[in-house]
Amino acid sequence: MTRTEANRPAANRSAAPRTEGLSLHAFTDLDDDAPEIGPFVSALEAFDRLPLLGELKKLAIQRTRTGPGATVLDVGCGFGLESLRLARAVTPGGSVTGVDASARFVAEAQRRAAAEGLTVTFVEGDAADLPFPDDAFDVTRAERVLVYLPDPDAALAEMVRVTRPGGRIAVITPDFDTNTIGVGDRATTRAILAHEADTAVVHPWLPRTLGPALRAAGAHDVEVASRMVVLSPDLAASYFATVGRSAAAAGAVSEEDAQVWVAEIAQRHREGTLFAAIGYYLFTATV
Ligand SMILES: C[S@@+](CC[C@H](N)C(=O)[O-])C[C@H]1O[C@@H](n2cnc3c(N)ncnc32)[C@H](O)[C@@H]1O
Repeated sequence: MTRTEANRPAANRSAAPRTEGLSLHAFTDLDDDAPEIGPFVSALEAFDRLPLLGELKKLAIQRTRTGPGATVLDVGCGFGLESLRLARAVTPGGSVTGVDASARFVAEAQRRAAAEGLTVTFVEGDAADLPFPDDAFDVTRAERVLVYLPDPDAALAEMVRVTRPGGRIAVITPDFDTNTIGVGDRATTRAILAHEADTAVVHPWLPRTLGPALRAAGAHDVEVASRMVVLSPDLAASYFATVGRSAAAAGAVSEEDAQVWVAEIAQRHREGTLFAAIGYYLFTATV
């Protein structure tokens, strides 16, 4: 047990995310060299518990009119956290399909659906080459996926293709240059956060071009909503400590500056004064 865990009330320990050292890069191919999916599951569950991200997910359900009877595709579904929630929303009469590039996530999603007694179809597949016919779904959604793809436009074109005319599309995505953390030294903080934005994902600024990209893919009536998603102190501490160490390892800041920065995060976490947030956007459109 780490010192931080020792200082935390026992009741909270099991909910603490095990995300230390987790590299977001691995989300581009989880079946390649990631030793186990546990830390990724833990990170996604920790994000899934954030109330302000939950608000955007609920808004996505409203704006796509996802209700009983709807057929829904969840692109890059991971291990099905939202797919399983949506399966309840479309009952009775609807159906949910999840597609993900990771065979290990697909297997975990199938295990969870069976454990909850829910009928959801999970298949392995590439967002840029969806294994479904044209016009197959009422609603197609992708959450925290497009920033990892080499060609998000190809995925958007596929999402439009498999959605029926009049159907709805939802994309939930962060902008990595909105990472916010309240630690002391602004120059070090800016250098570390800029390094993270430039290296963590392929398209850190995706929301800034997503509206035109959706229209170019053939969708219309594009609407946008956003939330600054405040992180839980546990998630903020583990995520940003890793971000600081990565920046030092890449030479973006000195080891000494990074150590001071990471130590301040740990101290603020212990004291209960750590604040961190990430900006998320919801884009919805009609096909
Ligand atoms: C950050 S996770 C988000 C998972 C889920 N949407 C959520 O919000 O909990 C990114 C997901 O995208 C998947 N992914 C990455 N590249 C993909 C691709 N080319 N096609 C389909 N899924 C992909 C990863 O395997 C991973 O499950």
